[in-house]
Amino acid sequence: MQEKGDFFAKYLRICKKSSNFAGVLGRTARIGRIMEKKIVILAIESSCDDTSSAVIVDGVLRSNVIASQKVHEEYGGVVPELASRAHQLNILPVVDTALKRAGVAKEEISAIAFTRGPGLLGSLLVGTSFAKGLALSLGVPVIDVNHLQGHVLAHFVEPGEELIAATPSLQGVEIKHPSFPFLCLLVSGGNSQIIKVQRNETQDGKEAHLPHMEIIGQTIDDAAGEAFDKCAKVLGLPYPGGPWIDKLAKQGDPTKYPFAKPNIPGYDYSFSGLKTSFLYTLRDMIKAHGVETIDELAEKVPNLREDMCASLQATVIDILMRKLKKAAQDLGIRQVAVAGGVSANSALRQAFIDYGKRYHWEVFIPPFSFTTDNAAMICQAGYFKYLDHDFCAIDEVPFAKTTI
Ligand code: KG4
Repeated sequence: MQEKGDFFAKYLRICKKSSNFAGVLGRTARIGRIMEKKIVILAIESSCDDTSSAVIVDGVLRSNVIASQKVHEEYGGVVPELASRAHQLNILPVVDTALKRAGVAKEEISAIAFTRGPGLLGSLLVGTSFAKGLALSLGVPVIDVNHLQGHVLAHFVEPGEELIAATPSLQGVEIKHPSFPFLCLLVSGGNSQIIKVQRNETQDGKEAHLPHMEIIGQTIDDAAGEAFDKCAKVLGLPYPGGPWIDKLAKQGDPTKYPFAKPNIPGYDYSFSGLKTSFLYTLRDMIKAHGVETIDELAEKVPNLREDMCASLQATVIDILMRKLKKAAQDLGIRQVAVAGGVSANSALRQAFIDYGKRYHWEVFIPPFSFTTDNAAMICQAGYFKYLDHDFCAIDEVPFAKTTI
């Protein structure tokens, strides 16, 4: 009971900071009643071009619904204004489906978690506003989640049996959770970071459910996913280019084109030089063959796209894994995880398995459903923060840029 008293005290402190103190105060008794029942967390993710919602009940993921926006394909990249509009159209049916698939009524929700940033501001505003509006109408607290922390916490998601049965990409996959401390390579369209994840304490000195995360190395310019997407665009491949590079690389020679590798000290990365090297290789070949376009060049150079993709992919993976190996060796950590959209890359996943065998790491590779943006990981972060009584004020605003 002491714990529940602490929770109310903290929640009231937070609410006092917010503009709707009176309304929330009146509903606090209802939150108390719900707390005695099961813990139901609804999560909303809308940081970029995926509208997603998930539900966790007593620690078990019951649903994870994702509406990916196709509208950006013809532009070769995400158009922020179109993304926010698509979120507005998608959010209600996505949340409704997530609740229905979880078998949960909205009145059963204990708290609503939402991605607060980093991401596209217009996109974040849709998810944040929806989460806050729904929370106000239900009289439940809101929990803000850092998108990058969410990617790391994808490794703690516990999918329920029914969800596994309904999701082919979760079947036959070993779900295991890293122990602390561990290193996580976070690679996505906007980030390339090595994160040290360790045990954490709550403000009142108890062991927290949400671990402590510290960035020990990161890209100084482009992200790995950005390098994939931009090089794919140069080759005339659709957006997002990462999955296309993965596919074509399977038929290519990874040693055919030796691209530039950066020489950055410490655990930091750089991918802008590689991008330029990729572009100049193509430009020089176009000149040498007296053609004007990539399509014309591809007619003259057999297996051009496949070999370019395989060489690019091998270079990106080599850059990523060398730094990760250095960090693991220097810090003496052998629990090593990968997260983020680029962790869907088949060659990177294989590199993790190979490095694990060679350097005696225990490796953690997320199921495909939890690699690219999804609300399951936001829900997991929300569940941990709920257990830590870590809520946010109802008038918090999203942020486009932030660190972990
Ligand atoms: O995590 P995510 O969905 O969104 C961000 O938060 O950025 O990551 C998207 C990135 C894109 O750059 C996409 O091309 C890349 O992940 N990606 C891949 C693969 N699948 C997605 N990159 C390489 N190989 C893949 N199979």
